[in-house]
Amino acid sequence: MHLFKGMTIKNNELNISEVGVTKLREKYQTPLYVYDENLIEETCALFVDNFKSSNFKTEILYASKAFSCLEIYRVASKFGLGFDVVSFGEMYTAYKAGVDMSKVYFHGNNKTVEELEYALKLNVGTIVIDNDYEYEIVNKLAEKNNRYVDVLLRINTGIDAHTHEYIKTAKDDSKFGYSVYDENIFHLINNINQQENLNFKGFHSHIGSQIFEENSFFEAVRTVLEFSKNVQDRLNINITVLNLGGGFGVYYTAADKPFELGQFLQKYIEVVEEEQGNYDLNLEKVVIEPGRSLICNAGSTLYTIGGTKKTFAGREYIFVDGGMGDNPRYALYKAKYECTIANNMNGEATEEYTIAGKYCESGDILIKDIKLPKAQANDLLLVSSTGAYNYSMASNYNRLPKLPVVFVKNGEHRLVVKRETLDDLIKQDI
Ligand SMILES: Cc1ncc(COP(=O)(O)O)c(C=O)c1O
Repeated sequence: MHLFKGMTIKNNELNISEVGVTKLREKYQTPLYVYDENLIEETCALFVDNFKSSNFKTEILYASKAFSCLEIYRVASKFGLGFDVVSFGEMYTAYKAGVDMSKVYFHGNNKTVEELEYALKLNVGTIVIDNDYEYEIVNKLAEKNNRYVDVLLRINTGIDAHTHEYIKTAKDDSKFGYSVYDENIFHLINNINQQENLNFKGFHSHIGSQIFEENSFFEAVRTVLEFSKNVQDRLNINITVLNLGGGFGVYYTAADKPFELGQFLQKYIEVVEEEQGNYDLNLEKVVIEPGRSLICNAGSTLYTIGGTKKTFAGREYIFVDGGMGDNPRYALYKAKYECTIANNMNGEATEEYTIAGKYCESGDILIKDIKLPKAQANDLLLVSSTGAYNYSMASNYNRLPKLPVVFVKNGEHRLVVKRETLDDLIKQDI
């Protein structure tokens, strides 16, 4: 398993930011999410330090869908980050964490009237409109509440980014946003812009997630800026804010080759500055919203191994005390992970195992075919890079309680989300 910054081996045991995994199990039990707070902080600082320009303001939003709890909003806020939220729950959590709500952008393709009203009540800074229906609702609510609301329109550049390549199509089937190739978009923009209670600022574009090809992002920037220029010329509307989304790829396994983030961010800015010059745009602010790249590698999941089993067909399983309820990503899209036997870091990897959870599904797999030292019952198994889209996608399948979250930092550890109890599981039942 790749050791991320902050991971060290002491007496054959994995330590994360100077905290041993055995100690973590003693104190919090397993299964358990563990986050290295130093790594989160360093990554926040890396984004802020490298995505800046003397031509326009920049803003980093943390895409809170990747991992949302009170403490992550507090930590990211210390670095001046804003937040992308997509629901009542994310808005509420950010608000309760004391976030500056003017730095919050409300996304989503089907925000409810209640959610939009709530966003106005909490003074959410920007609403990102997805479609005609939503525009009408936002406008009515703004009028009714006598409010002036900053809005962006989510556009679709037709850039279909795969992990190592991109293709540009004029046809886009995504449920998100409005295609820049659809003539009706000009009518919608004009309508939004004419409303007294809506301050139309510009566009939002997000081309996908876990993208490794820098050119996909640069090509999207070119398309967004060209389109912005087109809108300015045709409709005489100033485009001042662009939100370019997230999607920067990260390491899960050796097959992933992420670009060096700091260097990439500087190039990204240069491309925006260059295209801004080419298209003669007066941008005031350029925003990005990383989720995975900000949090994924900082998080790991610690499990206790129960039984091992060799099937008749020859596959050798390790069973752990969690599984698809805390990490549904293999079951969802065959996502790949690395792991280690965290109390036997120096052991020789002589066996080939499949790591399966305890849920009642044969698809409850975490990792297939990984080389590890021989596993014993009660060993600790740590899966790395589970910081994004694990806790936030967790379920109570089989009525298993959700896991706690612990932050570790320089030998200290603290609980930031408690383990669910059996009573929590029946709390809403009548
Ligand atoms: C609108 C939007 N912004 C940002 C993100 C964050 O993407 P990532 O976690 O890949 O950085 C997403 C996730 O898909 C998204 O839908």
